[in-house]
Order: sequence, then C-alpha cells, then structure tokens
Amino acid sequence: MDVYEAVTSRRAVRGFTDRHVPKELLERVLSAAAWSPSGSNLQSWRAYVVTGRPLAELKKRAGERVVAGDPWDEREYEMYPSALNSPYRERRSAFGEERYGALGISREDWEARQRAASANWNCFGAPAALFCYIDRGLGRPQWSDLGMYLQTVMLLLRAEGLHSCPQMAWSVYRKTVAEVLSPPDGLILFCGMSIGFEDVTVDYIRTGRAPLDETVTFVEG
Ligand SMILES: Cc1cc2nc3c(=O)[nH]c(=O)nc-3n(C[C@H](O)[C@H](O)[C@H](O)COP(=O)(O)O)c2cc1C
Repeated sequence: MDVYEAVTSRRAVRGFTDRHVPKELLERVLSAAAWSPSGSNLQSWRAYVVTGRPLAELKKRAGERVVAGDPWDEREYEMYPSALNSPYRERRSAFGEERYGALGISREDWEARQRAASANWNCFGAPAALFCYIDRGLGRPQWSDLGMYLQTVMLLLRAEGLHSCPQMAWSVYRKTVAEVLSPPDGLILFCGMSIGFEDVTVDYIRTGRAPLDETVTFVEG
C-alpha cells in the first residue's frame, strides 16, 4: 500500500470485529511510528497499548459509568473552544449530520445520539486500543507532535490491513483509564484510539472535506 492509499483509505472506523491483533504487528507499527517528527526530537508522546483482560476491564468500568450516568471527569484540556466560529461551527454540524444521519438519528434526538456515542467506550468492539498521554509540562507545539505521531500510527495500521478510530471521548473518563493503566503522575490523557479489523457490515458515510482553496493558499512567484 503506498502512502496515498494509506491516507485516503484511513477513516475513523466505528465498527470492528473481535479478530485478534497480534502483538508483533503492533510492535512493528509502533517501532516505525517512533520515527515521527517532533520539535527538537522531544518525542512528546507516551503511548499505552491495551488488549485482552485489561481492555475488557476498562470497557466494563467505562460502560458502568455510562449506564450510571456518572458525570464526566473534570477536564484537563478543552476539547473545543466553547464558541466555535465560522467555518468550524458549520463543519462541526455537517459532521454531526453525516455521522448520526448514517445511523438514522435526527438532529433533535439527543438521547439516540448519546446512545450511539456510548459505543466509544466499548472501543466500537475493537480488541486493541492505544491511549496517548503527554507530559503536563509540555506546551502547544508538543501537543502537535502527538498529532503527527498518532496519524503515523494510523497510516501504518492501514499498511498492515487494520483500521483505527482516534477518540478524545476517552478523556472524559480519564480517571477510569488511569485506574487500569496506572500512568505516572504528571501525564495528561490526550486521547484513546481503537484498533482492529473493520466490521464491513457496519454502515457509514464517508466524511467530506472542505474544498482545497478553503484550507490552502498557494502564494506563487
Ligand atoms: C484528535 C481526534 C479525536 C477524535 N475523537 C473522536 C471520538 O472521541 N469519537 C469518535 O467517534 N471519533 C473521533 N474522532 C474522529 C473524527 O470524528 C474524524 O476523524 C473526522 O470526523 C473525520 O473523519 P474521518 O477520520 O473518518 O476521515 C477524533 C479525531 C481526532 C483527530
């Protein structure tokens, strides 16, 4: 698979089979992803890969919190600004329409949306997950290092025939994640990532993208 195909075939997959993901494969992917760039080569990411019993336990504990209507843990970073300006506001609502429209859920049906969203904490059925932390003392440029790392992981997973879904949703239950992973103090959980083989029976609508001239300006001589 070439890089273009890896990039264009990657999408946030929200339905996985329970097919086992071999540890050697994950080690191969994560060893290669370590070559991701980072400012001054800080390698700001701290990843935990979770499978088997610990992942089952984490899904169980998170699922119990969902069912109990437990409030989310207090935030350590803001997922989105409280007021989204144009064009981000419109893009976000277009995404909501696409995502929930594919499931036949209307804009007004908040409960059905919540139910669909709760699949996040079952990793959409995936048998493997990665949790990406960053040191509390690092700044915005280092958070962007994490993005490069995570995208590299997701592209390499494509090269191995796997799919993924990055999930900030896990940050809302960060204390439950910490109970299972026991990360050292001083780390902030940025996101989780479900990893596995796609369940091709799950319907989805491919997300769109803004036209190139909305996000790229060529300044030519
Ligand atoms: C940092 C980050 C966090 C995300 N968090 C979630 C999440 O919690 N749950 C989810 O279903 N998708 C999540 N996504 C997936 C996005 O919704 C998805 O990438 C976007 O809509 C574009 O669609 P595509 O990835 O399928 O091309 C996240 C993506 C990123 C990059």
